[in-house]
Amino acid sequence: MSTLSPSTASSTATDPLLLIDVDHVRFYVGNAKQAAFFYASAFGFQVEQIADLTTGSRDRAMYLLTQGNIRIILESSLTKDGAAAKESAQYGDGVKDLALTVFDAEKAWKQAIKNGGESAYEPTTYSDDTGSVTFAGLKTYGRAQHSFVSRTGAYALPSLKNGGLFMPGFRMVKDYPLNDYNHKNPCGLKYVDHAVGNVELGKMNTWVKWYEEVLGFAMFKHFDDKDIGTEYSSLMSKVMASGNHLIKMPINEPAAGKKKSQIQEYLDWHDNTAGVQHLALRTDDELTSITELRRRGVDFLTIPETYYETVWKRVNAMLTQHGHTVVKEDHTRVKDLGILVDADDEGYLLQLFTKPLQDRPTLFFEIICRRGSQSFGKGNFKALFESLEVEQDRRGNL
Ligand code: FE2
Repeated sequence: MSTLSPSTASSTATDPLLLIDVDHVRFYVGNAKQAAFFYASAFGFQVEQIADLTTGSRDRAMYLLTQGNIRIILESSLTKDGAAAKESAQYGDGVKDLALTVFDAEKAWKQAIKNGGESAYEPTTYSDDTGSVTFAGLKTYGRAQHSFVSRTGAYALPSLKNGGLFMPGFRMVKDYPLNDYNHKNPCGLKYVDHAVGNVELGKMNTWVKWYEEVLGFAMFKHFDDKDIGTEYSSLMSKVMASGNHLIKMPINEPAAGKKKSQIQEYLDWHDNTAGVQHLALRTDDELTSITELRRRGVDFLTIPETYYETVWKRVNAMLTQHGHTVVKEDHTRVKDLGILVDADDEGYLLQLFTKPLQDRPTLFFEIICRRGSQSFGKGNFKALFESLEVEQDRRGNL
């Protein structure tokens, strides 16, 4: 574990880099209208707001999708020169921006640049009679960026969470057919638990240092290829966390194996550029969420049957050893739903990973439920990698 950097150690309300929330996650996609329907239908998101030609947005369409405290902006370009058009051609659909709510976006941006960060774009304020939203962009690994977002008046975060508008220029979507259905058949996703980046071989420590120095994050966990490798393919990972643990950002790099690392496969299909590999979405009830997501047709990784021959002994021994109650979820249902379980000294977690969300083997989701454990399912890496290798092999990428 590294020590806290000075800006983390002194985090107070006056620290410009104090993070309030994950403001939103912005995806650049080829067709936001169709992507909105997919994420609503498969994952139960509300298609809540829109900015497009009908609201006077002549160059891009944006959809705000919400579920719990998760806000996703799906953006596509209306012209060939738009950023989303260019990047979706280059990288496929994926995450562009993990945007962070702060008290003053301009101050946060200036501080991050003073700390060695590079600007993605200058602070810009959008306002009307009711309030304002300020955005300021910081480049991070590869094609990804962090926007700092600060909000006032009708656009303040509490208002947004209560159904207020995202920013000037958006309008509410009325009568979206799936919204009522999703309200009655919830998937139970609550917030972004962590966001994982894949970076190039040899670059993990560069970005670990970047998060420490530029954003004042500290290292939370560290895994090496002995933890997370099979005989064939492996990776290394360090988990960075903001000072208040609002967001955790594991950073992966490929590790050598007999066959191709899953991280290298991602990079190969992401124009050899680092980017967001997965978003972990938190639920309070893994079984109910996975049951509903499977019913909707979400494509999850298949876990080898043999996994369940040893998992309960491994996990419950760890829990008993540290004085925790054993896994309360029904073991048969966990197995039938193909859910992964892991434990550490603080408790246990349930998790499951989707297959890629688009044709390229790049971005996917994790659905995670924590029962005390704050880690990332290290005990599952081996089973998981075996499953991933089967998929990589099917794609001809192993
Ligand atoms: Fe994860």
